[in-house]
Amino acid sequence: MGSQSGDISSALKEALASLGTAESPEAVRSIVSQAVGKKGSLGALKSSLGSIADIEQRKQVGAAINAAMTELTHAADARISEMSTAELLSNIERDRVDVTERALKSEVAARLGRTHLVTQATERLEDVFIGLGFQIAEGPEIESDFYNFEALNMPPSHPARSMWDTLFINQDPQGSVLLRTHTSPVQVRVMQEWPPPIYAIMPGRVFRRDTPDATHMPVFHQIEGMVIDRNITFSDLAGTIEAFTKAFFGSEFTSRLRPSYFPFTEPSAEFDIRRPDGSWIELGGCGMMHPRVIRAGGLDPDEWSGFAFGFGIDRMAKERHGVADLRDMYSNDVRFLEQFA
Ligand code: PHE
Repeated sequence: MGSQSGDISSALKEALASLGTAESPEAVRSIVSQAVGKKGSLGALKSSLGSIADIEQRKQVGAAINAAMTELTHAADARISEMSTAELLSNIERDRVDVTERALKSEVAARLGRTHLVTQATERLEDVFIGLGFQIAEGPEIESDFYNFEALNMPPSHPARSMWDTLFINQDPQGSVLLRTHTSPVQVRVMQEWPPPIYAIMPGRVFRRDTPDATHMPVFHQIEGMVIDRNITFSDLAGTIEAFTKAFFGSEFTSRLRPSYFPFTEPSAEFDIRRPDGSWIELGGCGMMHPRVIRAGGLDPDEWSGFAFGFGIDRMAKERHGVADLRDMYSNDVRFLEQFA
């Protein structure tokens, strides 16, 4: 196969050399397709195989051409991947940001984010209650009908359920899973998990089917409080609300309880806070825990008694900072948010 083998290796050499100078993957591909194409150096040699009379020799030459083509294709692949690595590295270099340098510039440091109004209020509330000896617990936002209603002394179709405009999750059996309408279900979960006596606060997000306006949002925050101990009375509840009022709002503020109704407390009350100027803020609901709720939590109501309270955090933050419209707190406008450092 003498002369043919020289032709093959010089055709291969030539193609490999032009691969080395190609500057794009397209150029590489066209070098390969030209060389192996019918009129290309290797392609033409392949087409002329038929003119070799000796079968053995024809086989050998054919195999040598195929090997050369394979070598060329591998070299082309390697060249292309070399190019994309180089491109990647140059992109990385181009897009590089020196974070250390930026953080040192004072105008950048001045634009640091801050905690949201509601987060600030929640953290302050937690601090005050921790100071009074309470521990923090949390429950799920997607809740079962059992914890949100039934365990709170509202069996199916109890009329008091309509006090909460409920958003249900589309899951069978329909109505069994919902977005919690208040933080009260966490009372039951905590009783099931913690051994008494219990002094707990339970902050979190709650959901109601409400159209947003200046004083309502379909998603808002509540903080629940619960005390379970021996011989807990209504005056413990009133005293706790008063102690909280002074610790959170200041010693010039006082509290009052008004009779009300909740299925899970008996007796039930609404509590208001009196500002130094004599005006009142309605804050939330409270009452002595209903024996059925204590039992749903796995405790014996003859041995343990307790009280619970719950109120909205968003309205309190709104009140404290003189925000006119609750919706402003959730529009994510930095000009609004950054006023509250
Ligand atoms: N869960 C009640 C509500 O959302 C508030 C409440 C909590 C009332 C605890 C009594 C006791 O309106």
